[in-house]
Amino acid sequence: MLNTLSSAALLGAVAVSANPLAYGPLNGWGGSPSNTWGSGASSTVSSYGASQTPFTFPLSNGFPNVSDATLRGIEVTAQGTLPNGPPVTHLNTTSITIFELIAFNEIFEVAFFSSLINNITSNYDGYGIGSSVLKDYVLKALDAVLAQEELHHLGANGILANAGQDKIQPCEYVFPTASFDDAIALARTFTDLVLGTLQDAQAGLNGDGDGEFIPLLGAVQGQEGEQNGFYRELINLIPSSAPFLTRSAAPFAFSALNQNFVVNGTCPGPANALLFKSLPIFGVLNVDTKNIALADQTLTFSVKTSSSYADVAGWSVTFINQQNVPVTKPITNIKLAGGVATFDAFFPAETLLMNALTISAVTHGASSFASVGDVAAATLFGPGLIEIN
Ligand SMILES: *[C@@H]1O[C@H](CO)[C@@H](O)[C@H](O)[C@H]1NC(C)=O
Ligand SMILES: *[C@@H]1O[C@H](CO)[C@@H](O)[C@H](O)[C@H]1NC(C)=O
Ligand SMILES: *[C@@H]1O[C@H](CO)[C@@H](O)[C@H](O)[C@H]1NC(C)=O
Ligand SMILES: *[C@@H]1O[C@H](CO)[C@@H](O)[C@H](O)[C@H]1NC(C)=O
Repeated sequence: MLNTLSSAALLGAVAVSANPLAYGPLNGWGGSPSNTWGSGASSTVSSYGASQTPFTFPLSNGFPNVSDATLRGIEVTAQGTLPNGPPVTHLNTTSITIFELIAFNEIFEVAFFSSLINNITSNYDGYGIGSSVLKDYVLKALDAVLAQEELHHLGANGILANAGQDKIQPCEYVFPTASFDDAIALARTFTDLVLGTLQDAQAGLNGDGDGEFIPLLGAVQGQEGEQNGFYRELINLIPSSAPFLTRSAAPFAFSALNQNFVVNGTCPGPANALLFKSLPIFGVLNVDTKNIALADQTLTFSVKTSSSYADVAGWSVTFINQQNVPVTKPITNIKLAGGVATFDAFFPAETLLMNALTISAVTHGASSFASVGDVAAATLFGPGLIEIN
């Protein structure tokens, strides 16, 4: 079972600068971290692209450009409509980035579930579901998910358009999965990250004076949580993972999407270009320890870097789990070879009952962080996504 993401790509080149960091944002949207890291983190390319034909839009129904009749068909499959209240015609700056990231994420999800449904329907190797009753049930659920994700994307783009902003356009995508089980485990992991990022989006809207959208995001969050209970059950986990789901921050979601799924250089502007300007893409953090169980243990990580031993020794690994204060641990056992740094950090999973999603990140500049936004502002490499139970 896939319990870490971003383990396959070792392609992110990061030259770490010694700039002091600005601390303080309570969410991941403020302060445009890319300014701080202008000469630091660089974008990474997914390593899966090489052997895979990228997924491209439009879908056969024309999505993301749909006629009224096609939209109605999507709504019927989704079992509901786009919100039909009067349009909001003004968004503050942070809120624009928030809806851009939501649209950017949702259209990736449309690509992923389109590919998955196609693979199941076509009985591709690894995607066959033997029982026809079960296959029908899974496809019925995933068809609804696909239509619902299409509406999430169209809704976010509609909000941007009403406020006079460009719509987010699709990029090309690859998926690091080659079987039904892996694809569902991955869906569970990226949905967990979305569930954490929507918390950050709600805080960002509040801070930006656009709190009227918070209930809408709450509605999407609950919807994605319903989906995740289904994915968890399919891979033999109990439906609800933890009492309080893990908080994330926008740069972690944006980095994970670009590190793992988006084919580098395929995102058209100008709208996407704005998003890329607002949010950083961190270097890839590989979680080398596999099948991580609920135990206090030392984990091994690796990153691609040209940094010196002394630089690496100054970094830490920070773990974000549930709604608890981030845990920052020193890096030990450093090995540098061939432009790759391998190192360990202690992960107190059992002591803190770190079930569900843990976001790990290589940070520098502080030995503790008060908030997830502070962690993001000090992150060099991440997110390394760890799932337990
Ligand atoms: C991604 O593509 C851009 C140009 O589109 C290039 O400048 C950059 O180096 C690429 N990044 C990687 C990691 O290949
Ligand atoms: C959707 O329509 C817009 C505007 O006509 C166009 O720029 C874009 O390329 C279309 N997208 C796709 C995926 O066909
Ligand atoms: C669908 O199958 C192709 C191989 O035929 C694979 O490359 C792709 O990752 C699969 N999609 C998903 C979502 O697993
Ligand atoms: C949001 O925009 C409105 C209208 O321009 C403005 O009055 C308000 O101060 C802004 N709020 C924040 C937090 O920037």
